[in-house]
Amino acid sequence: MLGPSRTALRQAAARQFRPATIVRPASTWASIQQGPPIAGITEAFKADSHPEKINLGVGAYRDDNGKPYVLPSVKQAEKKIVDAALDKEYAGITGVPAFTKNAAVLAYGPDSSAIKEDRVAITQSISGTGALRIGGAFLERHYPYAKTVYIPTPSWANHNAVFKDAGLKVEKYRYYNKDTIGLDFDGMVEDIKAMPKNSIILLHACAHNPTGVDPTEQQWNAISDAVKAGEHYPFFDMAYQGFASGDTNKDAYALRHFIKEGHNPCLAQSFAKNMGLYGERVGAFSIVCASAEEKKRVDSQIKIIVRPMYSNPPVHGARIANEVLSNPELNKQWLGEVKGMADRIITMRALLKENLEKLGSKHDWSHITSQIGMFAFTGLKPEQMDVLAKEHSVYATKDGRISVAGITTGNVKRLAESIYKVTG
Ligand SMILES: Cc1ncc(COP(=O)(O)O)c(C=O)c1O
Repeated sequence: MLGPSRTALRQAAARQFRPATIVRPASTWASIQQGPPIAGITEAFKADSHPEKINLGVGAYRDDNGKPYVLPSVKQAEKKIVDAALDKEYAGITGVPAFTKNAAVLAYGPDSSAIKEDRVAITQSISGTGALRIGGAFLERHYPYAKTVYIPTPSWANHNAVFKDAGLKVEKYRYYNKDTIGLDFDGMVEDIKAMPKNSIILLHACAHNPTGVDPTEQQWNAISDAVKAGEHYPFFDMAYQGFASGDTNKDAYALRHFIKEGHNPCLAQSFAKNMGLYGERVGAFSIVCASAEEKKRVDSQIKIIVRPMYSNPPVHGARIANEVLSNPELNKQWLGEVKGMADRIITMRALLKENLEKLGSKHDWSHITSQIGMFAFTGLKPEQMDVLAKEHSVYATKDGRISVAGITTGNVKRLAESIYKVTG
């Protein structure tokens, strides 16, 4: 029997490969939904033409003229680095070794058993956010007991997204008491006790963002006991070491106390605020291990997580931070400048309270001065924050959080008047 002719075969093949009629959308991303704005306050502030508008939304330090502040010690350190004309070769996966060594000493303290016994696994990170992200990924991959992290209510707005993107589930524990505008200590401890055994708990080491409410040392001791009783895993976020009290050792109390008590926590560090290195993205992520041998294994797994994310971190900012940490004169100067920033913030808190009281406000504003760090939780409601923005050109987040770093001797009176008019 004769088979199909050549022509018939060609026609069949052509039919088979004829491109189907594809109905393409107008663009590949035509169905992408508009996401909610992430930095809405700055946009609204920029668009406002009021000559005395005030921006209290930014989480960055400002000097008394409302201008960004480059620390003189940091400027000098940078000059030394530039003058040294170092090459621009890649750092290793975990960054500039001298920097991470000194960053660990700053956080844990030179006398820490973790440092002395060489059991801190550490990597440089893209500032504090990157440290949290590496930590989230490490726990998701290697923490044997849980895939849920508990964060305080409220917490820094990015915690939820960072941990979720790392594959962890996020739950909350009580932290802030709206009625007292202070710490809900009993609620916090109760929630820690109610967490399943071996839970991961995120703790703000100092200068809690957004509330400015920190536990006292005594309360930290009790929190450490509760965490230990539940055999939970503490993850410290220390984005403001030195910035809260003006003393880097005092601000590290919680972390160091936990280690003395036998916890082996992990830690996200940022040098954005305390060195004003915001845009340089200098940070570190570390894990306190049980031994130097365990540290080596943990180190190797940290590298395996970092390598496919960004290969290795940038060197410039880390070199600057290392110079500030390791040069005795610059270090002394820096500690003075950190104290200067913290003190200016503390003074602005006092001035705001004083101005509100002078105006005759009947509200109790003592929380403004009892809170600590860059932010104050005013207790103002979202509607009041709206009025502050629309009628007084004072911009801050809807939850009533103001960045005290944005207050100056020049704007504090007008700010107090605006708050007074809104709160009565
Ligand atoms: C609590 C907290 N953690 C981490 C960060 C991370 O900051 P950065 O990535 O700039 O170091 C911030 C910044 O505002 C923060 O407030």
